[in-house]
Amino acid sequence: MIPFSPPYIDDDVIREVMDSLNSGWITTGPKVKALEQEVSKLTGVENVLCVNSATSALMLMLHWFGIGKGDEVIVPAYTYCATALAVMHVGAKPVMADVGKDFCIDPQHVKKLINENTKAIIPVDIAGFPCDYDNVMEIISEPSIAKLFKSKSVEQEKLGRIFILSDAAHSIGAVYKGKPSGALCDATVFSFHAVKNVTTAEGGAICLNLPDAFDNNDLYKWLRLLSLNGQTKDAFTKSQGGNWRYDIIYPGFKMNLSDICAAVGLAQIRKYETFLLEKRKEIFRKYDEGFSSEDWAELPPEIVDGRESSCHIYLLRINGISEYQRDKIIEAINELGVSVNVHFVPMPMLTVFRERGYDINDYPVSLDNYSRVITLPVYPQLSDEDTQTIITSVKEAYRKVVS
Ligand SMILES: Cc1ncc(COP(=O)(O)O)c(C=O)c1O
Repeated sequence: MIPFSPPYIDDDVIREVMDSLNSGWITTGPKVKALEQEVSKLTGVENVLCVNSATSALMLMLHWFGIGKGDEVIVPAYTYCATALAVMHVGAKPVMADVGKDFCIDPQHVKKLINENTKAIIPVDIAGFPCDYDNVMEIISEPSIAKLFKSKSVEQEKLGRIFILSDAAHSIGAVYKGKPSGALCDATVFSFHAVKNVTTAEGGAICLNLPDAFDNNDLYKWLRLLSLNGQTKDAFTKSQGGNWRYDIIYPGFKMNLSDICAAVGLAQIRKYETFLLEKRKEIFRKYDEGFSSEDWAELPPEIVDGRESSCHIYLLRINGISEYQRDKIIEAINELGVSVNVHFVPMPMLTVFRERGYDINDYPVSLDNYSRVITLPVYPQLSDEDTQTIITSVKEAYRKVVS
């Protein structure tokens, strides 16, 4: 069976983890700092904070911006539940917008949803393809939209507009108009979950890119404190002789990343641009070549109008099929020894959101994308032979079910 998404573990990863284990320090410390510096190098964003997941990272940023009860945050209907759950966890309401055929949030739908309760928008770079950030910024800057913004906190007053928080869980290494993902809006959240392009088993990072009214370095220090119970000294600093005294100055969270986990990501990120990302791009292109002659295959965007994907997963849509036929094709692919997946079941179809009144019929493009999509695996360990097996299996399964 060709697996869907095994982690990339080589000797460098094992060496880095062993180094952490042998160092006498396994939780937040030098490896986390080094990983933050590597993310910073990759994105060109100076201030990067690592935390224990992208979900935590989203919650931390929404909390910092003073978002809570009575506030609304616009998210795409087509994403993983974590994008909306983070909003609910801070007490606010996720307001869902439909997406486009590129899987990204539809800026025109976003425009219709903005009102005086809207405090933030979370565009999601699904599959690693960056959203149209300029378009989102243009919309929130239109005078008739901008005047709706009402600030309720010092940070909101300082920003003076809707906060753009990118859910870039999939898009580390993606590029938008020459700029790397991480540097495209106010703040960006990466996920280092086990299946992501760079992993720490569980983990995430926040790139801080707020405008001049903010000091991003001060903000980094404050968020670091918030991610560690509001404690004035981290455990590593306290462990240095004579440094035991500390204070708790804010009811913070426990969201810090451990050094053992950071070590995995550190070894990966060092070879990400030169090797791991390149391998993903190669596989993406092989799929493109394999399916481009089939009129039933709708290929996912990779490089379009200055938007360049990080090739996280390959979202193949099949033209002219029903959801039932899609499920049957997946079954047939599985029988041929290939694991595939579906990204994502749109949130309004999930019980927790359906019960709160979200209706999938309000999101026709999300529903159409979902009903026809099959996610093909993309990871560096896939050999040429594997990729060919996947392509032929998909074609054979299509013929079996549809012809
Ligand atoms: C689009 C998206 N956002 C957020 C998350 C949450 O990431 P994490 O598991 O690091 O909290 C995921 C995880 O799969 C995701 O796919």
